[in-house]
Amino acid sequence: MSGDLQDQAKRHLWMHFTRMGSYADADVPVIVRGEGCYVYDEHGNRYLDGLSALYCVNIGHGRAELGDAAAAQAKELAFYTNWSYAHPRSIELATRIAGLAPGNLNRVFFTSGGSEAVESAWKLAKAYHAAKGEPLRHKLISRKLAYHGVTMGALTATGLTALRQPFEPLTPGGIHVPNTNSYRWEEDRDQLWAADAIEEAIEFAGPETVAAVILEPVQNGGGCFVPQDGYFQRVREICDRHGVLLISDEVICSWGRLGHWFGCERYGYAPDMVTTAKGISSAYAPLGAVITADHIAEPFLHGKAIFNHGFTFGGHPVACAVGLANIDVMEREDLCGHVRENEGRFREVLDSLRDLPIVGDVRGAGYFHAIELVKNKDTKETFSSHESEELLRGFLSGELFRRGLICRTDDRGDPIVQLSPPLIAGEEQFEEIEAILRPVLSEASERMERWSSLSRA
Ligand SMILES: Cc1ncc(COP(=O)(O)O)c(C=O)c1O
Repeated sequence: MSGDLQDQAKRHLWMHFTRMGSYADADVPVIVRGEGCYVYDEHGNRYLDGLSALYCVNIGHGRAELGDAAAAQAKELAFYTNWSYAHPRSIELATRIAGLAPGNLNRVFFTSGGSEAVESAWKLAKAYHAAKGEPLRHKLISRKLAYHGVTMGALTATGLTALRQPFEPLTPGGIHVPNTNSYRWEEDRDQLWAADAIEEAIEFAGPETVAAVILEPVQNGGGCFVPQDGYFQRVREICDRHGVLLISDEVICSWGRLGHWFGCERYGYAPDMVTTAKGISSAYAPLGAVITADHIAEPFLHGKAIFNHGFTFGGHPVACAVGLANIDVMEREDLCGHVRENEGRFREVLDSLRDLPIVGDVRGAGYFHAIELVKNKDTKETFSSHESEELLRGFLSGELFRRGLICRTDDRGDPIVQLSPPLIAGEEQFEEIEAILRPVLSEASERMERWSSLSRA
């Protein structure tokens, strides 16, 4: 059976964002089962899922009640669309989300995932401005290194050259501004410099042509860049000054990831739209959404006005039933509170690794953190792309997995190890993370030193 699965995976499955050639002589890791913070592969090996299966499974694996909710819904009404019709679960979930979302974020446009949510939010921003008599407003501002998805609009927002460049030309109107990675700023730089760069970009583009700014509360791409104090308040002022909408891309940062239902609550700002996915259903079914403030929906509520956009599966009844059951679990177990109570300890464990020569920075918020790996801690010198390839793909990712920890090693910015465990994780898992990361990162720094001296020789 297991041999068959391997052969079939190699023969038929097109894996996403994967160098499939690297599995020519190695097994594809096949995850077959999950329970709590752990998943199991086809050979019965257990792994701590330190990434919540790509920042998704917030309530943890193996919750039968979400499966039961899906089964009950499929029996009652497997599918109906939200195009001109509605069904009870999409109505109930939209109402529940509106009740949890801060301020006047009261209307929910469902999608099947994050890229669709970002795509929809940009289109809605354009449609909103057109409806308000400003049809020239079409540009979207986002940050360098940020990941906002892969469909052509969302990809335009994504600020990662390697992902964008092969698919150009992209959607016209994408503009990129600096991110908030202050680890790499000169010390005397104004803390709100990156916020002010957004205003410069708006003025340069011509404010009357700019539709929206899209930002994550904590930026994933590049490794959990947190905002400076007052950053989002400054951005909100800038957006208001120029009539530009603020979209908070919370595909990762909502549903408790930062200790709140929504990431914007943690940093105290009021977006015009929130894009979300992943943790909205803890990924027990594919679901995403754009949650809009009342004033965004208002122009579409009268006469013949229409937002001419939709997806067959946006707000699928089974996914919405799962979304409702997911919120039940999060409320019953107060998972946002659990994250707020335990994030300090999680951070303490990661900070304790700072004594290792390869650990340059530890940053993040809630249950969403990254460790930046450096060649020289004093100068913050980073690894070359060749060295980083050797470090991450030649050693770290395989070794961490072999020792039973799933986390993300990434060098789309500077090299990082990223952790985003299920929100139910606690002391036991934190200690396990440390017990695996410490020896592996120590060995990584020794290897890189040896490797660099060999390459110098
Ligand atoms: C902030 C953000 N936006 C959008 C997306 C795209 O979501 P999806 O992969 O569900 O299309 C992601 C995916 O990780 C994300 O992190």
